[in-house]
Amino acid sequence: MSKPISKPFDLYAADIDRDPFPMYEWLREEQPAYWNDRDKYWVLSRYEDVFNATQDWETFSSANGNLIDEIPGRTNATLGTTDPPRHDRLRALAQAAFMKKNFEYITGPTREVAAEAARACKAKGTFDFVADYSSTITVKVLMPLMGLPVLEPSTIRNKVVLAISTDRQTRGRNEELNAAFKWMTDFISTEVEKRRRNPQDDLVTRLAEAEIDGDRLSDKEVLLTTATFVMAGVESLSSFMTTLALNMHDNREARARIFADPKLMPQAIEESLRYNTSAQRFKRTIAREIELHGKTLRPGERVVMAYGSANRDRRKFDNPDIYDIDRNPRGHLGFGSGKHVCLGSQLARMVSEVAMNEFLAQIPEFQLTKTDFPWVPSSNFRSPRELPFKIM
Ligand code: HEM
Repeated sequence: MSKPISKPFDLYAADIDRDPFPMYEWLREEQPAYWNDRDKYWVLSRYEDVFNATQDWETFSSANGNLIDEIPGRTNATLGTTDPPRHDRLRALAQAAFMKKNFEYITGPTREVAAEAARACKAKGTFDFVADYSSTITVKVLMPLMGLPVLEPSTIRNKVVLAISTDRQTRGRNEELNAAFKWMTDFISTEVEKRRRNPQDDLVTRLAEAEIDGDRLSDKEVLLTTATFVMAGVESLSSFMTTLALNMHDNREARARIFADPKLMPQAIEESLRYNTSAQRFKRTIAREIELHGKTLRPGERVVMAYGSANRDRRKFDNPDIYDIDRNPRGHLGFGSGKHVCLGSQLARMVSEVAMNEFLAQIPEFQLTKTDFPWVPSSNFRSPRELPFKIM
């Protein structure tokens, strides 16, 4: 178990990306409703509080955005940044487009792309799991699914990582980060226009054409929803696969069992979503006054919901700091919960399972070449920027 430390929780501290877990423990035990007065935000860290907040959108609103350092132009405009009834409408239309196809059909292409990437890693001997495997696969599988051109994986990943990053100096966003999001929406916008003129069998076309009782998404809604898919699809999924690989590296016995019986991979995926999910924290804004742990949370105040901390709460999970693929962590918040629960969870589970099993089949033994690899600076997400492995 990590040791409690007694210092204030600071989203912009240097070590928060690499290891937020000791701070989470301090919060859960000492300050379950914690107010950071410097940057003006609450943090909820216990499972029960975070879960309840996900169910109560009338108090914990998403309309001011769900990114702690929100991207200008996204608020009250898309999934993740709206409350009912607007969110219900957007979600139903996006779901209609998203669920129209059974995603099983992309299992085959995912396996082919993964097998090719694993062969390339094998040929190199030492490689970066992020650049050479997880981001290559997510770009090559998800961009065609959405109907977007498969750009050089490092180009799109670099832009997406910048778009979701936080500037530690200014403790927020900066021009470069906003420009990366603009680059992405300009690029998507061109593709949306093309699909309006020339419909294809892809997600962008289905979003543009989705209709419920004569209601359709506007051009801006199609654009921002596609941008959310790109950020979630390329970044969250690639980051999650990277974390899963790190867990496989750190847990040799689990790795050997999965190599011998790939049907165990879904259990490892659920445990990784609990143990160190890439989607660590999301924001809500207080819409009506509420008392929690003797504190008063007032309308307009920001609340950080620490999913990654809730998933390590011993009030919910036994021995929460142990990685255990036999645990069956029902109720984990790796995909959130309530109205805004992840729309791509099934797709993410499927792609991760196929890709990670293919990796282990070809590269069952691998080792980090250094432990001080860089992490993405982000107030919401946690993921290695590079994961340097060598084959044993
Ligand atoms: C393992 C990878 C992924 C993780 C860990 C993840 C995690 C999450 C979490 C925690 C939320 C809730 C956000 C909140 O509470 O405000 C969320 C929402 C969302 N995710 Fe994912 N996600 C992943 C992959 C994907 C993929 C592949 C897609 C689609 C291509 C996707 C699309 C979405 C969308 C559209 C939302 C917003 C839903 C809404 O607000 O109604 N995600 N995701």
